[in-house]
Amino acid sequence: MTEADIRLKMSHISKSFGGVEALRGVDFTLRRGEIHALVGENGAGKSTLMKIIAGVHAGFEGEMLLDGAPVHFHSARDALRHGIGMVHQELSVVPQLTVAENVYLGVQPVTRLGAVDWPAMARGAREQLKKLGLELDPRITLGELPIGIQQLVELSRVLFSGASIIILDEPTSALSPPEIERLFRSLRKLRDEGNSIIFISHFLEDVLAIADQVTVFRNGRKVVTAQVTPEIDKAWVIQRMIGKGHEELESSYLGDVALASPKDAKTVLEAQGLSKEGSFQDVSLTVKAGEILGIYGFMGCGQIELARALFGKLKCDNGSLTIAGEARKLRNTAQAAEAGIAYVPESRRSMLFHHEPIYKNVSIAILDRLSRLWLKPDAEREIARGHIDRLSIKTPGTEALLGHLSGGNQQKVAVAKWLTYLPKVLILSEPTRGMDVGAKEDVVRIVKNLRDQGVGIIVISTEPETVLSLADRVIVMRKGTVSQEFADETISKDKLLAAA
Ligand SMILES: Nc1ncnc2c1ncn2[C@@H]1O[C@H](COP(=O)(O)OP(=O)(O)O)[C@@H](O)[C@H]1O
Ligand SMILES: [Mg+2]
Repeated sequence: MTEADIRLKMSHISKSFGGVEALRGVDFTLRRGEIHALVGENGAGKSTLMKIIAGVHAGFEGEMLLDGAPVHFHSARDALRHGIGMVHQELSVVPQLTVAENVYLGVQPVTRLGAVDWPAMARGAREQLKKLGLELDPRITLGELPIGIQQLVELSRVLFSGASIIILDEPTSALSPPEIERLFRSLRKLRDEGNSIIFISHFLEDVLAIADQVTVFRNGRKVVTAQVTPEIDKAWVIQRMIGKGHEELESSYLGDVALASPKDAKTVLEAQGLSKEGSFQDVSLTVKAGEILGIYGFMGCGQIELARALFGKLKCDNGSLTIAGEARKLRNTAQAAEAGIAYVPESRRSMLFHHEPIYKNVSIAILDRLSRLWLKPDAEREIARGHIDRLSIKTPGTEALLGHLSGGNQQKVAVAKWLTYLPKVLILSEPTRGMDVGAKEDVVRIVKNLRDQGVGIIVISTEPETVLSLADRVIVMRKGTVSQEFADETISKDKLLAAA
């Protein structure tokens, strides 16, 4: 490789958001005709660096050279004019437009008279999508198609835009294995034609199978760039992602955690062979009374859909569910609640009432009973007050509107409402996401307290720390199936990552 092969050279890149340092002194080099994998835990700074390259973040420190010349992009359009295209982590298609319009978003072909050339657009879109294995009518409204297909449409827009530097930020989370295989074939072809591709993914095996180079990020810094050889395997990458130093391990739940399930407890929930086309397949699991089952997996591994199915929000194609010894078919959430299942979803906004006082939010779980007992607002307040004290919820009082609390305190309210009326099974999705350390500890304490009162708890998270800090037993999901179960043994973060 010569200097002439270097397309992009980033030196000493730093970037902060307010007080948060997202990148610190990062060097990064991209060559012609390579697939370069970028890996690192959530929050490591991968997307931020890519957004700098793609012109989304115009403000940063450091230097960026494109083909040897200094550049500084002021918008994504600016970067695209220089041949840099990016598929973002968050889908950016327009569901209301047709497939063809999405493929050509912002770059519609025009006739000699300057009108949009619809037939050319439909033809072009059809051909591009075919390269990714999709046979679609380009006139369909995109929003009517499954999310995986939408992701492919977005990919095709950037892959075939003529960009010579293509950035893909976690593009496979909603794709099935054959779709991923076809995407990889296209990527190899684009590389062999001399284009450069940066590929971010949590699926380390996938990434290592396709990449020529791999760069590892940790905490806003680049750890290492290495050529991918047979010696560079998943374990090698994980070690560098989480850091090898013993102090680091001990300071953040990364150290060994001893799992222990209750021995003689009754099973409160048993799922057998649950399947939902496109989401999860053949999932079996049990939860005992007084046990916290952790479900760990990357975004898109089917865990959210599984939780929704267990709460009657999503109908399974196959499988059976037994709750407290009784076979159940959950057709809706009301039936799930009646069976004793409670659910606190990852978007807590949907379960709370922001314009109601806190005491109302806490007592919602027992509203049925309240009306039966003719409980007065005073009684409601009394219950809420007790919880606010026990949970150290920081609020001016029970009358404060929920929307005025910090996210962490809102989350405590979301969990608190189940303390009044204990469910048999409590499903928590990302219970501590985005919370500061103190609030996290409070939630961990609340959840363990519920467990100790005999509730069977399922905690779903994409953060290994969350699972390690709570679970008595762990299952790991991977691409819609259970890949491994850990029980009565000592586990650590690297074991979880390796199974996902
Ligand atoms: N627009 C933003 N505003 C504030 N903080 C941000 C923004 N984008 C990223 N961050 C923060 O910067 C850090 C790096 O984030 P990101 O680059 O998205 O990481 P990754 O893609 O590796 O998961 C995180 O702490 C994140 O919270
Ligand atoms: Mg990211």
